Amino acid sequence: MATMDLSKELELVNQRITTSLASEDARMQEIMDWVLLGRGKQLRPQMVLLSGQFGKMNDEVYLFASIIEILHMASLVHDDVIDNSTTRRGLESVQSKFGASMAVYAGDFMLACVIDDALDVIGLRNYKFFFRAMKKLVYGELGQVARVHDLDVTVEQYLANIEGKTSSLFEIACRSGAKAAHAPAKYEDALADFGKNYGMLFQICDDILDFSKLYMSDKPRMLDFVNGIYSLPLIYALQEHKEQIRQIQDDCDHYGMNTERSTALKELIRASGSLEKCEEKSRFYYREAMTALAKLPRIPARDTLEEMTDQLLSTTLSSSAANFAV
Ligand code: FPP
Ligand code: MG
Repeated sequence: MATMDLSKELELVNQRITTSLASEDARMQEIMDWVLLGRGKQLRPQMVLLSGQFGKMNDEVYLFASIIEILHMASLVHDDVIDNSTTRRGLESVQSKFGASMAVYAGDFMLACVIDDALDVIGLRNYKFFFRAMKKLVYGELGQVARVHDLDVTVEQYLANIEGKTSSLFEIACRSGAKAAHAPAKYEDALADFGKNYGMLFQICDDILDFSKLYMSDKPRMLDFVNGIYSLPLIYALQEHKEQIRQIQDDCDHYGMNTERSTALKELIRASGSLEKCEEKSRFYYREAMTALAKLPRIPARDTLEEMTDQLLSTTLSSSAANFAV
C-alpha cells in the first residue's frame, strides 16, 4: 500500500486560505488571524486534493481545497455562537474571545470570501452542487434544532441531520476535486459516494468519542447533550433507559453538567448495548465507503483514502473500548 504525504500541497492550500481571508478592516483581520491559528485536521481539503489525483491536478483543485476549508471554518464559527461553546480547535472560540456579534460577522465575512474566490472558477455553473451543499448544511442544523430536548428522536432523524450538517461537505469535497481535475464521470460519482459515506462515519465516530471521555471543567464534553441535542449513542440508550436519562437531563438543566452526571450517562450508554449498535452503524458506513473506493483505480490516492477510513474507524473503536471499559 503506497499512501501519499500531502504536507507540501496542504501548505500551498494554507497560503491560499491566508491570502483569501486577508481583510482591509483591522478588527476583522485580527479575528481571521485568530481563526487561522487553530488549524484543524484539514480533512476536507485533503479529500479535494486526493480526489483531484484521479484526473489531472491543476490550480482549480487547489482553489476548491481552499474554499471548502473556509466554508467549514465559517460554519464552525457560527456553530460556536449557536452552541455557546467557549473552545474551538484547542483555542478560545471566536464568539467567546471577540463576542457573539463579531463571530456572526466573521462567519459572514468568510462566506463572502468563498463566493469571491469561487467566481474565478471557469464553468462555475457546473458546480451548483457545491453551493447547494451550503443549504443542506443549514437544513441539517434546522433538523437538529427541531429535535432539541426530544427524547423520542429517532435514528433515522439523526442520520438525516448528520447527512446534511456533516456528510454533505465531505461529498462535495470529493466531487469538486474530481470535477476540477476533469476526472472521468464514473470516478467523480464513486468519489462523491465515498465522501458521503465517509462523512456519515466521521460524524458517528465524533459522537461516540464525545461520550467516551468524562466531563471535566477545563474540557467540556457532552456539550450536545447539555444543549439537548441527542446523538446516536444517546438515541440508542434512550430506547432502554428513557426515564433515567430524563432525570440526568433535568439535573443538567438546573445545575449544569459535572463528572458525576457524565459518569451516570456513560454507564447508561454502556449498559444499554448502545455502543454495540453504534459500532454496527459505523461498520455499515465504513463498508459503503470502501465499496465506493473499490470502483477506483488503485493509485496512491486511493490507498490514502482507504487508510484514512481505516484509521477513523479503528482509532474510534479502540478509544471507545478503552474509555468505556469498567
Ligand atoms: C459542528 O457540529 C457544526 C457543523 C458540522 C455545521 C454547523 C453549520 C451551521 C452553523 C450552518 C452554517 C452554514 C453555513 C453555510 C456557514 P457539532 O456542534 O456537532 O460539532 P462540534 O463539537 O465540533 O461543535
Ligand atoms: Mg458545536
